[in-house]
Amino acid sequence: MFSDLSVEDLETFVEMVQFRRYPKGAFIVNQNETGSVMYLLVSGRVKVSLASPDGKELALNYLEAPAHFGEMSLVDAGPRSADVIAVTDVELFSLDAKDLSAAIQLQPRLALSLIATLSSRLRQTITRLEDMAFHDATHRIMRVLLNVATASYESRGVPVVQGLTHYDIATLAGTSRETASRIISQLARDGVLATKGRRIVVDLIQLRELLETN
Ligand code: CMP
Repeated sequence: MFSDLSVEDLETFVEMVQFRRYPKGAFIVNQNETGSVMYLLVSGRVKVSLASPDGKELALNYLEAPAHFGEMSLVDAGPRSADVIAVTDVELFSLDAKDLSAAIQLQPRLALSLIATLSSRLRQTITRLEDMAFHDATHRIMRVLLNVATASYESRGVPVVQGLTHYDIATLAGTSRETASRIISQLARDGVLATKGRRIVVDLIQLRELLETN
């Protein structure tokens, strides 16, 4: 996003941001709080999630560096829409509202990139809503596995789900850990995926076909 800035502009940008580190498990953003900064994730992984009053969790997304979050409250002045929790140690730059406007003047591509990210998150949320309304837990678990394994294939060339427990997969699919484990075991018996230690290797073609017919 900033690779074509001149050294001078980069220096200006660096003065706008603050470098921050959070340990694994830290809440970086709390749902419903007022937000005055957004974050650029430099290293590590965060989980965007919602908690119900009785302690249930719905994971909205996992974000890996490079990524950004916390921009919604800056743009619409509403409260934080979700919790954002560090799932590894993370390094971030924070940027406050007035500096976001200045950063956009410095690098107009930043505005387009923010809109593109919001659009793709809205698309994902529409698909989730559709799956919640029209499909069962099996379909939703398959969708999560397909999305995560496809992203891994696109970035690393291997269609695997790793770094996510069955509980994590369940919270992304809006179901229980027991249901997620049962469905993953069945998919393994059907030869659609193979579990190797804490990695799930997915046959993307078979899983996509199954999802289209289920
Ligand atoms: P904000 O509402 O300020 O604080 C929580 C942040 O979580 C939000 O900004 C977004 O950056 C991020 N967020 C909310 N929903 C999603 C989602 N579905 N996918 C990814 N990130 C999200």
